[in-house]
Amino acid sequence: MIRRVGVVGCGLMGSGIAEVVARAGYDVVVRELSAELLERGLGRIDASMRRAVERGKLDEAARDAARARIRGTTALEDLAGVDLVIEAVIERMDEKKAVLGALDRIVAPGVVLASNTSSLSITEMAAATRRPDRVVGLHFFNPVPVMPLVEIVRGLATAEEVVAAMREFAGRLGKTVVVARDTPGFIVNRLLIPYLLDAIRVLELGVASREDIDTAITLGLGHPMGPLTLLDFVGLDTTYYIAEAMFQEFKDSRYAPPPLLKQMVLAGWWGRKSGRGFYEYG
Ligand code: 3HC
Repeated sequence: MIRRVGVVGCGLMGSGIAEVVARAGYDVVVRELSAELLERGLGRIDASMRRAVERGKLDEAARDAARARIRGTTALEDLAGVDLVIEAVIERMDEKKAVLGALDRIVAPGVVLASNTSSLSITEMAAATRRPDRVVGLHFFNPVPVMPLVEIVRGLATAEEVVAAMREFAGRLGKTVVVARDTPGFIVNRLLIPYLLDAIRVLELGVASREDIDTAITLGLGHPMGPLTLLDFVGLDTTYYIAEAMFQEFKDSRYAPPPLLKQMVLAGWWGRKSGRGFYEYG
């Protein structure tokens, strides 16, 4: 029975996950690396719930109750008593393995360790723990409170009962579930990343302006955001890490990050989160 959930990382995804889990009635312990990052992450949760109240998606009493269920910490050890952990740290295998290896020693033996990875191997992460059958992918989409999908990723060793438990848990969060095998990018990013990279190539080639590329896709295909706006929204750094991981695995040029993407990441133009990406943000 899941009552308390640990969330590791309170960035763009971790804060959204913590919010959605608390709004579904679970107690949440969310861990960030420093007090400053934690404060910023909790601030993001407050702002998102304020928006939800303004839009009539949440009443104030439910908001206050959800907020009271979220406890922030900078100590991973504070996750000792949780019934499920969802990690949402930076999209790098070494970091993921270090966090899961540490959690494996902190939380009780049967507890499921779920990763919000968007492209990295669940099987490889699981091998960094003594409970590979309890490690699973639980991939949310940005903005987490709004996007109704969760991808469950079954690693080579993931127990079927763990997949079933995550299916039930995601359902309680109000999400629709799809299940994918442990392959780079799973379903959504397998299709999304080549498309986003192609949009950058189209811009690099001077086929059209950034505005016209985005307008073409929003009005011509009915997408809520054009690809360059979506890149800024997801984060150019995150997209670069995902593309790089997929390219390393497939050795297929479709997944190779275009030079412009790498340059923008090196320049610190990470999109909305840094104030500048393909567009400028105030
Ligand atoms: N909590 C609950 N609901 C909220 C909310 C919150 N904090 N904030 C907004 N909403 C609701 C609004 O009430 C509205 O609902 P309604 O349609 O029933 O009225 C809906 O969400 C849309 O919100 P807004 O009207 O404020 O905003 P927009 O209409 O401009 O839409 C958007 C914003 C939802 C981000 C939309 O542009 C969109 O869907 N963009 C595409 C996002 C996308 O593709 N995400 C996936 C990225 S890939 C990913 O995450 C995977 C990773 O691995 C890379």
